[in-house]
Formats: sequence, C-alpha cells, structure tokens
Amino acid sequence: MNKLPTALTSPLLALDQSSTTPLYRQLYDGLRQAILDGRIVPGARLPATRALATELGVSRNTVMSAFDQLFAEGYLEGRVGDGTYVTRTLPDTLLHAGATTMSAVALQGTGRRLSRRGAMLAATPVSTSRERGQVGAFAPGIPAIDAFPFETMATLAARRWRNLSSELLGYGDPAGYRPLRDAIAAYLGAARGVRCSAEQVIIVGGSQQGLDLTARVLLDSGNVVWMEDPGYLGARGALRAAGAEVIPVPLDAEGLDVVAGNARNAAVRLVYITPSHQYPTGVTMSLTRRLALLEWATHHDAWIIEDDYDSEYRYAGRPLAALQGLDRTGRVIYLGTFSKVLCPAIRLGYLVAPPDLVDAFVAARALADRHAPTIDQAVLTDFIVEGHFARHIRRMRALYAERQAILLEAIERELSGLLDARPAEAGMHLLTWLPDGINDQLAAQRAAEYGVIAPPLSAYNLAAPLRSGVLLGYAGVKPHAIEAGVKQLAAAWAKLCG
Ligand SMILES: Cc1ncc(COP(=O)(O)O)c(C=O)c1O
Repeated sequence: MNKLPTALTSPLLALDQSSTTPLYRQLYDGLRQAILDGRIVPGARLPATRALATELGVSRNTVMSAFDQLFAEGYLEGRVGDGTYVTRTLPDTLLHAGATTMSAVALQGTGRRLSRRGAMLAATPVSTSRERGQVGAFAPGIPAIDAFPFETMATLAARRWRNLSSELLGYGDPAGYRPLRDAIAAYLGAARGVRCSAEQVIIVGGSQQGLDLTARVLLDSGNVVWMEDPGYLGARGALRAAGAEVIPVPLDAEGLDVVAGNARNAAVRLVYITPSHQYPTGVTMSLTRRLALLEWATHHDAWIIEDDYDSEYRYAGRPLAALQGLDRTGRVIYLGTFSKVLCPAIRLGYLVAPPDLVDAFVAARALADRHAPTIDQAVLTDFIVEGHFARHIRRMRALYAERQAILLEAIERELSGLLDARPAEAGMHLLTWLPDGINDQLAAQRAAEYGVIAPPLSAYNLAAPLRSGVLLGYAGVKPHAIEAGVKQLAAAWAKLCG
C-alpha cells in the first residue's frame, strides 16, 4: 500500500498548541482515533516522522513519542528499512474498542458530543472477552460456577430476608456494611498479613470499582503510572480512562523490574502491581523486590496499588504475605475481590486504604453509587463468619489443583511439541507457550473458530512481547470440557504448525 501523503494525514490531526494536553498526547489520540474508526485503514503506511513533524509544525521527538506509544500498544507495526504501518490484524481488544468508538463518532455526527473523559471511557477496552460474557474452556479468571455453594447461599439469603430489620433497607454507610468490614479486616489480618483496622476497609463493587476509585482519587490527567507488562487490562483501562500515561515496566523472575521502570520514567505517581501472583504470568514478587519497590515508592512519593485478586489459590510453595503488611509509610492501596472465591456476578470486593485516605475514598465511593447493596453484604457476612467461606476456599483449592492436573495431562497427550505448559503453583489459569514464530493472535483466532477461548499473551502486553503464548483458564471448566477443549485446540492448531 502506498504511503499516506502527509498532507492527507495532517488534517486528521488538528493539534491545539494552546491546550494543556501535551502535543505528543494529542497526536497519539488523533492517530489512535483515526485508526479505530477506520479513517486510517489497517495496513496503511504512515508518513515518515520527519515529514509529519514538518507538516504539523511540531518537533520530530513529539511525533516519535506518539508513534512509540502506538507501537507499544499494537496499533502500529514497523518493517525494518520499510517504514511504519497500521497493524494489519488489529488485536480483538482494539477492534472492540473501535466498535465502541464508532458509536462515539456516530454520536458526534448527530451533534451530540462526548466529554474528553467520555470519549476516553468509550474507547478503553477492559478485557479480552468478558464484556461478551464468554465462559467455558478456557476463559481465564472464571471460578467453578458448577461448585458454587447454591444451597448455603439460598439458606443464608432466605434467613436474612425473613428477619430483616428496617434499618438494613435504608441508605447504608458508603464505606460498607460494618459487620462485613469487620469480617474482612479479621480475614485479611489472619490470612494475608494485611495490617488494617475495619475503618480502613471500604466495600466496593469488585476490584474494578476499587481501581476506578483509586484512579479518580489519586490521579490527575497526564500523571505517570507504572504497570507490569504484560498486565491486567482492567487496571490499564481504569488508569488510562483517568488520563494517566501508563508506562509498561518489564518483569523478571522476581516481579516488576524497579530498576528498569526507574530508567524509563521516574516521575511516577502510582504503581499498579499483582505481587502475589502476577497477572497473567504468575510470577510471585520476591520479598527483596517488594522491599525495593516500597523503598523506591517512599523515596519518589508514589502510591502503590496492590491487586491481590486470587491469592487464595496457592497449591504449592509458601504464600508470601501481602506487600501492604510491609508498608510503613502508608502508600499501599490494597484491593481484594469475591469474584474469584465466589463468582464475578456477586460484584463485591474491598479496598484497604491508608488511614489518611479513608475519608477521600469513602466520599468518592458515595458519589459513585452511594454504597454496595446492603442485603448482599449482609448475606456475605454470614457466609464468612459462619465458616462457609473458609470451607469453600479449601474445597475450591483442591478442585482447581485437580483441574490444573487434568489440563496438563490433556496438553501433554494432545498438544505435545506444540504447546509448552508447566505446572503453576497458584492461580486459575496456565500461561502456555507456543513455538517460536507462531503468532499468538492468530492461534487465538483459530481457537475461537473451534469454539475455544485462548486469549493471546500479546493482548496483555504494551511493549513488544518476548514470547508467544496463550492463557488457558481451567478453574471454571469441568474435566470433560477440559479434555474436549484441548482436543479442539489440537484440531484448530494442526494446520498452524503444519
Ligand atoms: C488481575 C485481576 N484483578 C482483579 C480481577 C477481578 O476483578 P473484579 O473484582 O472487578 O471482578 C481480575 C479478574 O479477572 C484480575 O485478573
């Protein structure tokens, strides 16, 4: 395809020199938007950075910064000695974002305009598949709904509704139902080494609301945030939607590489991490690295979000206590969720705020949606304090260990030589490796054509991924469906390697 003439590109990219939004960011936003709504088509060759800079009247560095970010996010691809192209096969997540953005554009066509924040929200993907409600082999992050404690929950809910005090039917505390906050504080202290009082525990609508609140309470547009790369799309979305500049920080065997992050951008306001079980690679952040990160954050006056989303599921090795318990300067915002231990639809989670941030978080929580549903919180409290919660976790831990073993055996039998899968000490999915040269987006697409969900690792990366892999969630998949799913993968990928 011919190169887009600069004169054609620049009208798409009206830059406002007087705006407080940096020029590179305006250029990035403009190009991204044009790609997403099809004004610049996949495969189009972009003008050279120098020519575009001249045309737009900005420095070449500005253009290169915008291109770098688009490269990192997978919108652009380069061919050595051959220029810069719009990615031919845009990742599913981007296409999904594109669909949403189209509606934003259509809105504009009718004379209605979204705010900058609204446009940002509309264009931000949250996950690879979840909006479409995908479950089954091998959707990651879905617990065993088949083993959900239906009877117990039904009994507890019926008991609550029969004996409800009128007090529980009025407006509740925006921080959450106090007995639930007490129960969570006790659980976190005993099971995770979190140091907090019940006052610091704020009940949220799952970790996603915790991420959104944290971003809104602590970030201004343009603030720099470090994120593990690859990393959790829900966090990336919440941070981006707040206008943050997300800097991908690579991982090593000890977790987020603080030295590498520091070299990339040290003017950081917030760091997002999943130290117990990095999502999606499964790396556990070492104690040395935790201490190094805390010291670094103290020195740079940065906040840390610790997302402890699935720490209950560890099958081997000793779990490390939460990083929050090591924090002596009150800079860790700790997040937990009932999505993995019960089910995502429950939409209940918790945020543990440092004492001096509690009021701000509670105010933001109240403004968002007043508070979580009180009866659901009360039923969950009974579930925890009457011992069902601990029992359910023990049962699920055994069940998931069994399902992981079944998946590993099936892979060994059906996909040997094609998929490298190793036992994982924790979590609900395996990160499996494809042979060199096999594109994971293509592998995922083929799997989808055979009815199997196998999200590509590269969808979670901002920078170029080092290896090609797919995630296979097993926790929510029954044994026969695991076997059938792996057979489908073998069929789907037979030609890929042949
Ligand atoms: C890293 C991570 N954090 C948090 C969550 C849970 O999100 P929520 O509590 O909003 O359901 C998930 C679920 O997939 C996750 O993978």
